[in-house]
Parts: sequence; C-alpha cells; structure tokens
Amino acid sequence: MRPLNLHPAMVLSMCCHVHFALAWTVNNFLMTGPKALLTYAGSVQVGAQNGIQECKHQFALERWNCPQNTRQLSTQNGIRSATRETSFIHAISAAGVMYTLTKNCSMGDFDNCGCDDSRIRQTGGRGWIWGGCSDNVAFGDKISKQFVDALESGHDSRAAVNLHNNEAGRLAIKATMRRACKCHGVSGSCSIQTCWMQLADFREVGNYLKGKHEHARKLEMDKKPAKAGNNADNRGAIAQAFRSIARTELIYLEDSPDYCVKNRSRGFPGTEGRECLKGNKNMSQWERKSCRRLCYECGLQVVEKRIEVVSSCNCKFHWCCTVRCDKCTQVVTKYYCARKEGGRKPQNKTRRRHRAKGRH
Ligand SMILES: *[C@@H]1O[C@H](CO)[C@@H](O)[C@H](O)[C@H]1NC(C)=O
Ligand SMILES: *[C@@H]1O[C@H](CO)[C@@H](O)[C@H](O)[C@H]1NC(C)=O
Ligand SMILES: *[C@@H]1O[C@H](CO)[C@@H](O)[C@H](O)[C@H]1NC(C)=O
Ligand SMILES: *[C@@H]1O[C@H](CO)[C@@H](O)[C@H](O)[C@H]1NC(C)=O
Repeated sequence: MRPLNLHPAMVLSMCCHVHFALAWTVNNFLMTGPKALLTYAGSVQVGAQNGIQECKHQFALERWNCPQNTRQLSTQNGIRSATRETSFIHAISAAGVMYTLTKNCSMGDFDNCGCDDSRIRQTGGRGWIWGGCSDNVAFGDKISKQFVDALESGHDSRAAVNLHNNEAGRLAIKATMRRACKCHGVSGSCSIQTCWMQLADFREVGNYLKGKHEHARKLEMDKKPAKAGNNADNRGAIAQAFRSIARTELIYLEDSPDYCVKNRSRGFPGTEGRECLKGNKNMSQWERKSCRRLCYECGLQVVEKRIEVVSSCNCKFHWCCTVRCDKCTQVVTKYYCARKEGGRKPQNKTRRRHRAKGRH
C-alpha cells in the first residue's frame, strides 16, 4: 500500500467500518495533506475499534448485538440502512475516534496539540482555580470530524442522518466530561484546589449513548424517492425534518428488522446460539429477562451447557521472587438459545414485533 494515498474514509474502512465501504469512492482530501492524515490514522483506527468494542458491551444481551466482524455491515448489497441500531454505531464510533484522539493529545502523542488552556485565565470557584491539563476536546472534535464525517459524501437524507448521529456521538463526549481536582496546601490541607476538565471513562460515554439509543427518534420524511443529487428541494426538506430534533438525540429513518431472524444478506446472525443469563439473584431486571428476550420470544428454547473453566488457583509466593499456582478446573453452567427439537427456524415477525416494543 502506498500510504500517501490514504484517505480518511479508507482508514476507517480498513479497520472496522465496513458499512462505510461506499466511502472508498470518495477521493477528495479534506485534511491539510497526506502527512497530517498519517499522523492521526493509527488513533482513528484504535478509536473506531474501541467504539465497536463498547457497542458489543452495551448490546451483549440485546437481540441485535453489533457487527461481530468487519464483513457484516458491508454485505448489505450497497444499501445502507438507517435504523435505530445503525444510529448507535455511527454515534459510538464517532465518539470513539474523538475520544482516542483527545486522549492521545493529552498524553503528548501529537506535536501540534496540547492541553486545553482556554480556561486558565478564568476564575474558578470557591476554593478552587482552573489549572492542570484539561482534555482538549476541541482538537478531538475537529480531527475526528475530518475522518468520520468525510465518509458521508451524499446530500440525501441518509447522509444527513448519519452526520447528525456522528455529531450526537461527539456531543456525548462533551456531555460526560467532569471536573477533576487536586488538593494543595500545607500537608494536604486542601486549602486550595486546582481543577481541570477531564474525559469520563469511555464506558460512561457508552452508557449515555445507550440511553440515547433507547429514546432515538424516527425522522419522518416524505417518501419521495431520494434523488442522488444535491438539489435545493432535497436540502430544504431535510432541514425542515431536522428542525425539531436536538443535536444530542439519535435519529433514524427505518424501523428495525426482526433481529431474531438470521438474515444473511443484511448480515444479521439471528439469536440462535446466543448466550443468556440465568440463576443469579443479583441480576438486574434486564439481565434476568435475557433468556426470554433472546430465546423464548424468538421461538427458540434455552439449553444448558456445563463448561469447564481452567484458572490459576492456590497461588503461593516463593522467596524470592516467584509465584507458583495450581491449575484448577471449575465447572460453570451457561445458557444458550437453541432451535427447538424438530423446530423450524424462527420466521414469523408479526407478533414478536409488538412485544419487542413494550420494554421501557
Ligand atoms: C493513541 O492512544 C491509543 C490508546 O489509547 C494508542 O493505542 C495509540 O497508539 C495512540 N496513538 C498515538 C499516535 O500515539
Ligand atoms: C433479509 O433482508 C432483506 C433486505 O432488507 C429482505 O428483503 C429480506 O426479506 C430479508 N430476509 C429474511 C429472511 O428476513
Ligand atoms: C449479591 O450482592 C450482594 C450485595 O450487593 C453481595 O454481597 C453478594 O456477594 C452478591 N451475590 C452474588 C451471588 O453475586
Ligand atoms: C405469521 O403469523 C401470521 C399471523 O400471526 C400469519 O398470518 C402468517 O402466515 C405467519 N407467517 C409465517 C411465515 O408463518
């Protein structure tokens, strides 16, 4: 590969964003040049991957549980869907890219970027002043836009929705930032503190966006066939439809398909074979109902599997300095969705749909 030909769209496609595959056709540079691109490309990849990892965590007990591999989303026969779920993917991956770039910046990984000192001259509050290294989200915001938003080359409603959701993801990073402080003063008396704005854990960003996914709004557009062009009519209609929606909210255009059912052409594996949780009294409602949601309501049964887990145990410290452990085998019971004996593949959508909706 000749690195000088890298386009932001390509960088993302290479790692995990196959649903952006169409973007390979985009070939105008939006960055200041190929060199700047290469500087950030690694972080962008790591960030997008972190986004997908977080998606998997957030949706581990949902029927739809994120793209499992890089092929999955690209196999949509060139049709990019704009469902509630794809809105989440856009938001979490845009957030992941911005997050990693911002972190990298604070760690001093890039020459041309450092802590955000815009508050240093402002007064703080009672007993504290601004100081330290505030995470430079403006930098992360700007660079991640150049990569992630560049993937949307169209001017149709789909592109507008994707861009909106990307932005909602980036705003989630800002919304979850917190003030962190450090005490100063004689022997930790904390008579004065310095404070800075710090990124939350990415898990918190994931939780926040998961909530946005649950309350995502469907954008009602005219059902006129979208023209590929960028005519004023199209833009007017899109602007009109967006007017009532806050920038922080996720939006979608199409209802979700039935994720119980395997659909190879859309890359959905269905819920057969998925693990669900049972038996632990401490589980949340959401966990406790996971077998029902993933298996029973999808026309599947739950099968129990006893699985041997090998781990280290009886570890002893020996002078000096080694630790020796035994290998212990523990049998744990796990639960999976499986097809019923002699059963057909789950196929009937009509009745399950309703139940799937009633969970708030
Ligand atoms: C940015 O940070 C990630 C992990 O947080 C690291 O893997 C990556 O190498 C960093 N990128 C650069 C350019 O330092
Ligand atoms: C799979 O998805 C395609 C495209 O949305 C749809 O036309 C088809 O009916 C689906 N197949 C099944 C088995 O649901
Ligand atoms: C359940 O939660 C309680 C307190 O939250 C904890 O002490 C206990 O160990 C937990 N039990 C299990 C089986 O996780
Ligand atoms: C699904 O159920 C509906 C009524 O509940 C029925 O009309 C339809 O034929 C069923 N479809 C399949 C594929 O079983």
